[in-house]
Amino acid sequence: MADFDLIVRGGTIVTASDTYRADIGIRAGKIASISDALTSGDKIIDASGLLVMPGGIDSHVHLSQASGPGITMADDFESGTRSAIAGGNTTILPFAVQPRGESLRAIVEDYHRKADGQCYADHSFHLIITDPSPSVLGQELPALVEDGYTSFKVFMTYDDMVLNDRELLDVFDCARGTGALVMVHCEGYDSIKYMTRKLEEAGKIAPYYHGISRPQIVEREAAHRAISHGELVDVPIMIVHVSGREAMEQIRWAQQRGLKVYGETCPQYIALTEDDMKGFNFDESGAKYVCSPPPRDHDSWEAIWEGIRGGVFQTFSSDHCPFKYDSVEGKLNPKGKTSFRYVPNGIPGVETRLPILFQKGVTEGRITVNQFVALTSTNHAKMYGLYPRKGGIGVGFDADLLLWDAGRREVIRQDILHHGSDYTPYEGMAVTGWPVMTILRGEVACEEGKVTGVKGAGAYLRREKSPFAVPRGVAGW
Ligand code: URP
Ligand code: ZN
Ligand code: ZN
Repeated sequence: MADFDLIVRGGTIVTASDTYRADIGIRAGKIASISDALTSGDKIIDASGLLVMPGGIDSHVHLSQASGPGITMADDFESGTRSAIAGGNTTILPFAVQPRGESLRAIVEDYHRKADGQCYADHSFHLIITDPSPSVLGQELPALVEDGYTSFKVFMTYDDMVLNDRELLDVFDCARGTGALVMVHCEGYDSIKYMTRKLEEAGKIAPYYHGISRPQIVEREAAHRAISHGELVDVPIMIVHVSGREAMEQIRWAQQRGLKVYGETCPQYIALTEDDMKGFNFDESGAKYVCSPPPRDHDSWEAIWEGIRGGVFQTFSSDHCPFKYDSVEGKLNPKGKTSFRYVPNGIPGVETRLPILFQKGVTEGRITVNQFVALTSTNHAKMYGLYPRKGGIGVGFDADLLLWDAGRREVIRQDILHHGSDYTPYEGMAVTGWPVMTILRGEVACEEGKVTGVKGAGAYLRREKSPFAVPRGVAGW
């Protein structure tokens, strides 16, 4: 009998801290040995010439989410996790959204029903709190946090999601009490309403004006408000999908003050700009790029890199929120053609996150390959209570591995992707660095773009509380 079920031999292991040549022996889905020469395996994969990294963890993904009347998200758990696996990810964290007035527990069970038996990648859920009633904050949420749903997101905008300041404070207080990590969508509701009215009154309704209606100042103001509320309550917060300089500077300022404020950014903020939304007619594809916060400009790209290199951002996520473009249920819905305000917000990206960061970061010399691993895997696991099971390469970790060809040139094209959208916002982008094989708990789940894993092999992960969610302990109560 062989010592290992699988040996990944001859590759260059890259973790968030180290780069070295070694073989990896896998037994029962776990890394059992790392050594310079392993030979006794039932199966041997030759990884020579390749980087061997921890599987990608994408901690910001939307799947099968109700998105308003007549609008359907382009990915369910089957297609979304297939796309994730093909893009080199082994774990994703989608959201379970509470519609106002509904029980959080019932909603979580609904999402489990949607995901059970459908997933190619391991997964866990963040909660989205839209209705912080006394029973939600007093009973449901504390019980769910104890059950392993240890993070939740709140919104400072969107009609059906927005919380007012008092509600934000109450949710923050609940996070503090339960030890959960709060993620905050920072864009100011009233400012966006005001800008949208002014633009529509002036007849400026094309997708391009989506970006004009929510400029950086709107994100900056909300980020500052969220940071202040977090400081008042003494609770750590994670500001998600930061788009540019203004919000980045707010987070850096907070961190310099010693506050536990964390930051996430995404591919759209280093690879797209507001110009992509141009096209002053809804059929001219500007709607393809409509997401919130919107893509900005080249100075914002620089600011995002400043934030990545300076440690302002801990995670680089996709914010995969896929809709079809050429569809009445998606970007070209009938109402959507009457104003940017009706175009569903969000773009696909779970499959292209790693190649885009590798190209812009590692290939173009802005970050090291170890920083790449931290930003795409390790920090997500640490931030959201999955470490040390996920996010690293070491004895005892799940054998979630990504074999990566750092020299391979590819062009991102819709016809090689696996998501449910009918387009990619990154069509035609040339990248060097590409996933060759994704291994989920010791099983080959994707090879050369062909998904070989079994539907349902992706497991639900109950998470620990985040070590980053511990308050500073300065509040006087
Ligand atoms: O436009 C986006 N990003 N939509 C997804 C929902 C969110 O705010 O993350
Ligand atoms: Zn958001
Ligand atoms: Zn999102």
